[in-house]
Amino acid sequence: MSVTQISSLLENETNQIANFSNIAAVLKENHAFFWVGFYMAEDKELVLGPFQGPVACTRIKYGKGVCGTSWMKKQLLNVQDVHKFPGHIACNEKSKSEIVLPVVDKSGKVLAVLDIDSEHIKNFDQTDEKFLSEICDIITRIHG
Ligand code: SME
Repeated sequence: MSVTQISSLLENETNQIANFSNIAAVLKENHAFFWVGFYMAEDKELVLGPFQGPVACTRIKYGKGVCGTSWMKKQLLNVQDVHKFPGHIACNEKSKSEIVLPVVDKSGKVLAVLDIDSEHIKNFDQTDEKFLSEICDIITRIHG
C-alpha cells in the first residue's frame, strides 16, 4: 500500500524536499513507526532531512552510528536491538530497533539514507526490507 501511494505521489512532483517529506509522512501514518526520516549525504557527514517524529540528531559522521555505517557500506542495515549495535547513536531513548537503507543515485553514489526507528525490539522483518527497498528504488528512478 505504501509503495503504490508513494509511487503515485512521486509521479506528480519533481521537487526532492517535497517528495522526501511526503514519503516520511506516508510511512509514519501507515505503519505506526516511531520515527521516519532522511539524512542527506554532504561531504563527510549526513545532515538531517525531511522527517516525521521527535526531534533528532542533526549531523552524523561518515561511518558512525547505524546511519553512517549504512552510508559507508552502501548496505541496508536491519538492527533488531539498537543496544547491541556498537556505536549506535541514541537520538531518542525510546528507539529500540531500526532499519536504515541507502538511497543511491543512478551512478550508485549515496544521496541520502532512509532511517526508520521503532519503540519495539525486533520490529523489522524481511517484508519491511523488501517494501522499503522498493521505495528507495523509486526514489532513485525519480531523483537519482
Ligand atoms: N540511531 C541512528 C541515528 C539517527 S536517529 O535514530 C533518528 C544511528 O545510530 O545512526
